[in-house]
Amino acid sequence: GQGPLIDPFGRAVTYLRVSVTDRCDFRCTYCMAETMQFLPKSEVLNLEEIDRIASAFIRRGVRKVRLTGGEPLVRRGIVGLVDSLSRHLGRGLDELTLTTNGNQLVKHAETLAAAGVRRVNVSLDTLDPDRFRRITRWGELRRVLEGIEAAKAAGLFVKINTVALRGINDDELGDMVAWCGREGHDLTFIETMPMGEIDEDRTDRYLPLSGVRAALAQRFTLTETDYATGGPARYVNVAETGRRIGFITPLTHNFCESCNRVRLTATGMLYMCLGQDDSADLRAAVRRSACDADLDAAIAEAITRKPKGHDFVIGRGGPRAAVARHMSVTGG
Ligand code: GTP
Ligand code: 5AD
Ligand code: SF4
Repeated sequence: GQGPLIDPFGRAVTYLRVSVTDRCDFRCTYCMAETMQFLPKSEVLNLEEIDRIASAFIRRGVRKVRLTGGEPLVRRGIVGLVDSLSRHLGRGLDELTLTTNGNQLVKHAETLAAAGVRRVNVSLDTLDPDRFRRITRWGELRRVLEGIEAAKAAGLFVKINTVALRGINDDELGDMVAWCGREGHDLTFIETMPMGEIDEDRTDRYLPLSGVRAALAQRFTLTETDYATGGPARYVNVAETGRRIGFITPLTHNFCESCNRVRLTATGMLYMCLGQDDSADLRAAVRRSACDADLDAAIAEAITRKPKGHDFVIGRGGPRAAVARHMSVTGG
C-alpha cells in the first residue's frame, strides 16, 4: 500500500512509540511488581529490525517516533539506533524523541542531542529523595535531577511526566508546578492506568486529575491553550511560571477520538491501542523476508484493526488489571 495509514475511524496514524526493551533500572511501584520476569534476549528485535520497522512506518506517513521501554537508555546500542533513525528527520520525520526515567541521562544527553533529538520526556513523580526511593524502589533522586540538568545543558527541551498518586505525591503537585516553572520545563500529570499486576491496589492510589486541576487553580492562574505535541495531554498556561502544564486523563476524560498512535513492543508486536489486547506480529513479517513488501502488508492490515478506544476502568475490589500486560511492555 501507499499513502498515509488511516484507521477504520478515519484517524491517521502519525505517531509510532517503540519500546526498545522491557527492562528497566527502576521498579516504580505503579508500573512494575518488585520481581518481574523480563524477556529473554532472543525474543527481542535487534536494532536493524527496529530500524526497518520504524522506517516502514515513516514511509507510510508517521512523523513522530518516540523510543520508550522499560527504560530505553538501558538498551545497548540505543544511541546508534537514534543516530540511524535521525536520517529521516526533515525527510518525513518531524520528531525523534524518547521517554526516559532520567537515570542514565548524564551519560547520554550530549550524544542524543548531537544525534538530532530536540526534546525528551522524563518521568519524575516527586522532588523528595525518600519518596523517590520508595516509588522507584531504589532510585536516587539526585542522579535523575543531574540527568535533567544535563539534558537542559545539552539544549534539549524537557517535559516532566508525573503520575498523580493519592497518598504518595498528591501533597506536592503544586510544588512540582513551581519547580518546573523555575527550571524551565513543561510538566504533564498522568492518571494511573490499570495495566499489569503490581504489588498494591491501584484503586487506593488513583487520583482523578479533574480534582488536581481544581486544586492547582487555587494556587496558580491557569489559562487554556491549544498548544499540542501530538500526544494526549491537554495543556494550560501557568501565568505565575510562564510554563505549561498538561493533563493526561485516560480515565476522567477519554482522548481516544483523536488518537494518532500505535506501539511497537521490544519483541515486534504492534499494539493498536494501549488499553486493548489485540496486536499484530511484525517480527514474523520482518524475519520472513528481507524485502519490505510483507512488512508493509502486515502494517496495513494491523491498522485496519485499530479499535475505537481503550477499556480502562478504575473499579472497586482489588488490583485486577484491565489489561494484563504491564506498562513496560508498550512503554506507555
Ligand atoms: P509528548 O510528545 O510530549 O506529547 O509525549 P506523550 O505524552 O505522547 O508521551 P509520554 O511518553 O510522555 O507519555 C505520557 C503518558 O501518556 C504516559 O503515561 C503514556 O502512557 C500516556 N499515553 C500516551 N499515549 C497514550 C494513549 O494513546 N492512551 C493512553 N491511555 N495513554 C497514553
Ligand atoms: N499509569 C500511568 N502512567 C504510567 N507510567 C508508567 N506506568 C503507568 C501507569 N500504570 C508512566 C511513567 C512514564 C510514562 C511512559 O508512563 O511514569 O512517565
Ligand atoms: Fe521503569 Fe518507567 Fe516503569 Fe518506572 S515507570 S519502572 S522508570 S519503566
